[in-house]
Amino acid sequence: MAALTLRALLFIVNLTFGLTLDTILGDRVQFPESEHCSERGAKLQHTLTGGSNKTVAHLEGVWKPLDDYKDRMSPNESVILNRSNINDQGLYRLTCGSEEKLIHLNVIISSDKSVTEGEAARMTFHYFTAGKLGRYRVERNTQLVFELDLSSGSTSQGSGFENRTSVAPHWSSDGDLTLTLQGVKPEDRGAYFLYVLKNRKRGHLQAVRMRVSPALNTPEERNPGQTTCTPQQPPCKGTPWIPLAIIVALVLVALAVYRQRICWS
Ligand SMILES: *[C@@H]1O[C@H](CO)[C@@H](O)[C@H](O)[C@H]1NC(C)=O
Ligand SMILES: *[C@@H]1O[C@H](CO)[C@@H](O)[C@H](O)[C@H]1NC(C)=O
Ligand SMILES: *[C@@H]1O[C@H](CO)[C@@H](O)[C@H](O)[C@H]1NC(C)=O
Ligand SMILES: *[C@@H]1O[C@H](CO)[C@@H](O)[C@H](O)[C@H]1NC(C)=O
Repeated sequence: MAALTLRALLFIVNLTFGLTLDTILGDRVQFPESEHCSERGAKLQHTLTGGSNKTVAHLEGVWKPLDDYKDRMSPNESVILNRSNINDQGLYRLTCGSEEKLIHLNVIISSDKSVTEGEAARMTFHYFTAGKLGRYRVERNTQLVFELDLSSGSTSQGSGFENRTSVAPHWSSDGDLTLTLQGVKPEDRGAYFLYVLKNRKRGHLQAVRMRVSPALNTPEERNPGQTTCTPQQPPCKGTPWIPLAIIVALVLVALAVYRQRICWS
């Protein structure tokens, strides 16, 4: 399972204000809009707190990183930062000719969860539900996993997650929106984003990266008759010959050594 490739998780939502990109801390982040720009002199700038602008990359045939980004970005058709860090979050401005695009990058610290295939996974989430406004959503790779309308209580489940997702029935009184996913399958692995959508804005955004490990003991593997020798099993009767052969070989070697010593003395 070490080879499990949990690649960059990019998740794009069009909000009232430009484009929003979500990435998990440490993952690769690609600015997709940069791919469609071919204007000479185009640049991608990060607006830092305080209002100063820091240029990330500029277009010279291909996108080239500026000094501070050279260790994380290779010249390419689009701007890709190999390892996102917490300082990357915030507002970006892509200037392409006369056009300017705003991109908001969220860098989210995820919690890791390892679940055994077939078992249930629980993703903790608590939210103030007393006001009963908005919708609680869980997504994976931009696809819906689960949605709960906090005002009506109606739920919907994403394709592949039907009849497997639920929240505790008392969510409305205690705000516990922890999602339970039953019967985890290997294909359920990945990064899950949990948030509340209210007035077209996402709030309380959290990420869970889930790994699925294979079930350790399947009934066949656990059957002791297949791997252990028992007196009832005829095939095991042949094995005493092996230690016997080793003993004979050792005795022959000892005799040879003994004879050699006699010859020398
Ligand atoms: C950063 O860029 C924006 C847009 O181009 C501009 O309005 C702002 O004044 C710049 N900030 C500084 C400190 O140059
Ligand atoms: C960024 O990642 C790509 C693909 O994994 C790799 O080929 C490239 O060398 C990396 N660039 C830097 C500067 O780390
Ligand atoms: C260049 O960009 C492509 C996608 O546009 C990506 O698959 C590839 O890994 C990138 N290469 C480097 C060296 O970053
Ligand atoms: C989910 O449960 C309903 C009602 O029991 C059933 O009709 C439906 O086929 C189930 N869907 C899946 C994908 O198992």
